[in-house]
Amino acid sequence: MQYGLKILGTGGYVPPLTVSNEEFAAIADTSDEWIRSRTGIGERHFADGESSLDLAAQAAHRAMDDAGAAPEQIGVVVCATATHEYLFPSLACRVAQALGLPEQVLAFDLNAACSGFLFALHTAQCLLGERRDAYALVIGSEVLSRITDFEDRSTCILFGDGAGAVVAGLGDGGPTLFDSGAIGGTQVLSCPSGLTARNPFASVQELPQRPRIHMDGREVFRFAVDSVSASITRTLAQGGLAPGDVDWYVCHQANQRILKAVAKRLDIPLERFFCNIGHRGNTSAASIPLALDELHRSGLLRRGQRVVLSGFGGGLTYGSLYFIW
Ligand code: ACO
Repeated sequence: MQYGLKILGTGGYVPPLTVSNEEFAAIADTSDEWIRSRTGIGERHFADGESSLDLAAQAAHRAMDDAGAAPEQIGVVVCATATHEYLFPSLACRVAQALGLPEQVLAFDLNAACSGFLFALHTAQCLLGERRDAYALVIGSEVLSRITDFEDRSTCILFGDGAGAVVAGLGDGGPTLFDSGAIGGTQVLSCPSGLTARNPFASVQELPQRPRIHMDGREVFRFAVDSVSASITRTLAQGGLAPGDVDWYVCHQANQRILKAVAKRLDIPLERFFCNIGHRGNTSAASIPLALDELHRSGLLRRGQRVVLSGFGGGLTYGSLYFIW
């Protein structure tokens, strides 16, 4: 019998504050028309008085509700985030405490920028192999507005805050296929932590760089289309499947034009690519679980359908995961 990933419930949460494109036009040389036509984004949400923990706990609570999972059934908590307010403790530990999960839980964070949720879900699946009776709570939570450079008009218009979560277990519904890749480097997409290389007693100190996202947009665009298309093809080939065999593609919501280019390259109708970037923006590690939650709650996603999650991000990294809903 083949044990694959079974997603039992999903949850999503975005903070109430909505920021429109017009508000960016008031602070930068840009326009609603430029942002919509180049990215597909109309608005995004910014946290105001809420932390990445608040966002994550809300999304996780909703996912557990949807799954009908009790706290004592959760054995693994993996949070994907690059914007947690603490280097430690981990966001996963804080969510476990906030939700009253049992102490004997394996809880930790993972940072792979926008690919983080995919990697967290795959990691959780591997860990569940040792704990078949338990469920995993897998979360992507980001407050990207705190590391956005509002003086850079080509990046600041892209990002939003939010969190998405799933409760997953192992089931005999079918295989799960996974592919991932990593190309190191800070040139194309990076965000410094603010730490420097100097010994604290050295007479000359470096000025720490503020944590702000730096991005070569055109290069990321090219990388995204190439890596996501190739990764999806490789993932499906592991199971003897072709792109046309998949019912839903839920990809990282970075730019609607990237989704269009991937659909075209795979020769798949764009309608099979779920897209919510118009009202969410790019929420990094939260974008895939937020989109999956919205697709699930829309009623369009039916049990037994074939789903591919795919994304890319800082690292550079990319990955794809195929499973049966
Ligand atoms: N408003 C108006 N004009 C702008 C804006 C703006 N907000 N931003 C850039 N421009 C201008 C540029 O200055 C340039 O002007 P020029 O021709 O006079 O030099 C022109 O628009 C075209 O610039 P491009 O960079 O070629 O614009 P492009 O069509 O590539 O769109 C974008 C830029 C939206 C950033 C696109 O490259 C993109 O989406 N790339 C991928 C981004 C992405 O997916 N990032 C993921 C990051 S994940 C993470 O970091 C967590």
